[in-house]
Amino acid sequence: MIDLRSDTLTQPTAAMRTAIAAAVVGDEQKREDPTVIALEERAATLLGQEAAVFLPTATMANQIALRILGRPGDELLAEENSHVLLYELGGPAVHSGLVTRGLPGRAGRLTPEQIRGAVRYDEVVHHPLTRVVSLENTHNSSGGRVWPLEELHAVTDTCRELGLAVHLDGARLLNAAVALGVPTAELGHRFDTVTLCLSKGLGCPLGALVAGSAELMRTARRFKFLFGGAMRQAGIIAAAGVHALDHHVDRLADDHARARRLAEGLAAAGLPVDLEQVETNFVQIDVGRLGLTTADALARMRTEGVALSITVRPNVLRAVTHLDISDDDIERAVEAIPRALRVLAAA
Ligand SMILES: Cc1ncc(COP(=O)(O)O)c(C=O)c1O
Repeated sequence: MIDLRSDTLTQPTAAMRTAIAAAVVGDEQKREDPTVIALEERAATLLGQEAAVFLPTATMANQIALRILGRPGDELLAEENSHVLLYELGGPAVHSGLVTRGLPGRAGRLTPEQIRGAVRYDEVVHHPLTRVVSLENTHNSSGGRVWPLEELHAVTDTCRELGLAVHLDGARLLNAAVALGVPTAELGHRFDTVTLCLSKGLGCPLGALVAGSAELMRTARRFKFLFGGAMRQAGIIAAAGVHALDHHVDRLADDHARARRLAEGLAAAGLPVDLEQVETNFVQIDVGRLGLTTADALARMRTEGVALSITVRPNVLRAVTHLDISDDDIERAVEAIPRALRVLAAA
């Protein structure tokens, strides 16, 4: 099966498993795991922040960030299809008591005007106070779209001016940095908190980081315990992260090139693929325009040996390239997907 459902599906490579086996470890709750500490320091620098905290998942990283930036009853603004609003089970409300407001984005992005127009101040005594803005880069639901640097800076500047805390869900921030050809710190340093996921394009079995000022990260470390995320000999996982930062960052460009090749191949075969949307490792196919349901299209592609997955848009499927997808897989998918979908369309 050519498994293009998600970049979370990667298996640890042999070299990563060797790094895991060789990891020097200690009790990370006691700050005695040298590999975890090394990864945290490395991630802080990478993300342009003073400190970072290692966590099991990117969901926990987002939720801890929101917990330290907001107080119960505060309002959180985010793009309406962002991961923190749609895919974290109402976590901002559950863990932090935040009132959430989704704003419509363009390619997952918000504008300074939208933030200005949405923010609620304390003149009206009845309103929740807008306190936190969360951005996502790359933006998953819109198909791995990247924030242009100037737009990102314009929004973070506006948040600063308005006195709002600003969080970046950077689960795939390295994809954005590679796509733009800019240092990752350039994309992360203006935020109060930034997250990074190790188990997506970077190919680790698990792990994520939240980064911010030393002061905020002291608080984040307390919430890590509170959320049940403080681990023990976690260096075996952190070693995978260190290995991935050494070996799996530049190669994200290969995933992006493969996504582009797939998109162009599918478009050339007549499938409804928006080429402009393909900026990183996601390709979206609007199977509705072929008169197919996503369930039918997925089933038919599986019989041709290719797996895709659903998106937030009811008629749109996505293919995601990753470490375990080769050029050959892409060439086979370029043949198999149109074959599968054409048969269905004609049926
Ligand atoms: C943008 C974004 N943020 C956060 C997450 C959460 O990651 P995890 O499932 O590892 O908690 C995901 C997962 O797909 C994501 O796409």
